[in-house]
Amino acid sequence: MPPAQALSSPAAARREPDHPARYAPNAVALHWSMAVLIVVVGVLGLLHDSWPKQTQAFWINLHALIGLLVFSLLLARIAWRRRHPPPQLPAECGALARRLSQPVHVVLYVLMFVIPLLGIVTFIWHGRVFDFGLLRIDPGVPKNRAVFQPTELIHGYLAYALFALAGVHALAALWHQYVRRDGVLQRMWPRAREP
Ligand code: HEM
Ligand code: HEM
Repeated sequence: MPPAQALSSPAAARREPDHPARYAPNAVALHWSMAVLIVVVGVLGLLHDSWPKQTQAFWINLHALIGLLVFSLLLARIAWRRRHPPPQLPAECGALARRLSQPVHVVLYVLMFVIPLLGIVTFIWHGRVFDFGLLRIDPGVPKNRAVFQPTELIHGYLAYALFALAGVHALAALWHQYVRRDGVLQRMWPRAREP
């Protein structure tokens, strides 16, 4: 097909060379591993006050280490995303989905970035020590309530906002899958290895 004709065909309009039809395997792997880790770290966060006093430091340290893993994966994901544009929405997608999906994704990214940073400040200014098992990192910062109290509060509120927005985002994906049947979820679903 000559190039001009190829560009004007409906299939080509839907799938430009810069915009593949689905998310790349790396993006899919990062999306789902981070979603699982965020649920784990969030549940651990919500349980902080429920642990017996003598085990609280252990659980808060575990929460912090998984949170740091989430943050590292996020940096890898952002670096990957900058070099690999996401697929365009399928042609069947409605106007509302087109208008909302990008801003919602941006807010999710911002929350995933800011929450761990506030967690790190809260952790350090509470005078805590990162315990990686073989390696202990003591930032040597004395406990300072004036710093860690507000950051802990905002860290918690933003985490609730992330849970709520990710919940709406997941419901929207299920709505696309089972009501609109427009293939949006498949673009982010792991694909069986091709023979
Ligand atoms: C996406 C990642 C994270 C999520 C979703 C998350 C979520 C939460 C939640 C829900 C709470 C409880 C808030 C409340 O009780 O109102 C919490 C507390 C806390 N988080 Fe995170 N967190 C994350 C990452 C981190 C990281 C990376 C660190 C530190 C390195 C951290 C350190 C803390 C600390 C120190 C507390 C307060 C614990 C206490 O003294 O009660 N968090 N987090
Ligand atoms: C903590 C939980 C989750 C977070 C933080 C999250 C975050 C994100 C982000 C930031 C994107 C944009 C990716 C990009 O373009 O770079 C995305 C895409 C996507 N997510 Fe999630 N997600 C979560 C859970 C889920 C769940 C449970 C589902 C399905 C039930 C889901 C389905 C999707 C789909 C289908 C896309 C692609 C949307 C499109 O093609 O425009 N996500 N997610």
